[in-house]
Amino acid sequence: MKKIIHLSDTHIGYRDLSTKMGDIVTRIIYTKENSADYVIVHTGDVVEDATRDGSYEEALAHFKRLTDAGFTVLYVPGNHDYGTGSFGSGKYVKKFKKHFYGTHNFTYPIKTIIDETAFIGLDSMAEELNWYDRLFAEGELGKKQLKRLSDLLKENDVKNCKYRVVYLHHHPFHPKLFHHLKDTEELGKTLKGNDISALLFGHNHDGRVWSGRWGISRIYDGGTSTGKEGKPNPHRVIDLSRDPAFDYDAQF
Ligand SMILES: [Fe+2]
Ligand SMILES: [Fe+2]
Repeated sequence: MKKIIHLSDTHIGYRDLSTKMGDIVTRIIYTKENSADYVIVHTGDVVEDATRDGSYEEALAHFKRLTDAGFTVLYVPGNHDYGTGSFGSGKYVKKFKKHFYGTHNFTYPIKTIIDETAFIGLDSMAEELNWYDRLFAEGELGKKQLKRLSDLLKENDVKNCKYRVVYLHHHPFHPKLFHHLKDTEELGKTLKGNDISALLFGHNHDGRVWSGRWGISRIYDGGTSTGKEGKPNPHRVIDLSRDPAFDYDAQF
């Protein structure tokens, strides 16, 4: 049974955050000897500015150290991964997939089954790339992706898994206007009754716990793992086979 390390909003490329990321990676590698026992889930804003040349490559150099050491790393894109953060472009959709998944030949949700756990990654930027969307970065999954998610949750290999982990970039619950996912209600309806073990996200850099909503016992905001602008940076380690009370901040 693999454990999960939840990272988010690393914003590599912003000030000294690449150096901080390097330190975090070093500590993950040296404190977690059994790398094959861990899946690292990154909930987006991997980089600070996708429009900067070499941005993805700089980030991937850090993650290559982790995969070379035996860790599995899963990603979903954040608003900064498709542009500057406030302005995005559709051309980065394919580019992000190619760089971080090695193929652009898939549509979100992306499903990865590891042992007894189905990891389901959503693209909450899917409907955020129209001209009228560019003023705010709230996130929207869109009807098509939600329908695919609904179908995917009914697939036998997903249903037969002991655990289901859903991860996305944008915050489904934030009470402030323009700070949460536009179609959060529809996401809730889609997830309810499907025995979701954990819901992971980032974006607002709050790092708070929202467990209990939609009947899900683990709902975590990953904050900003590199502590962008001094904001909360929990490095949660999650063991789905145990009570959520045993999840902890490893402080890498
Ligand atoms: Fe962010
Ligand atoms: Fe974000």
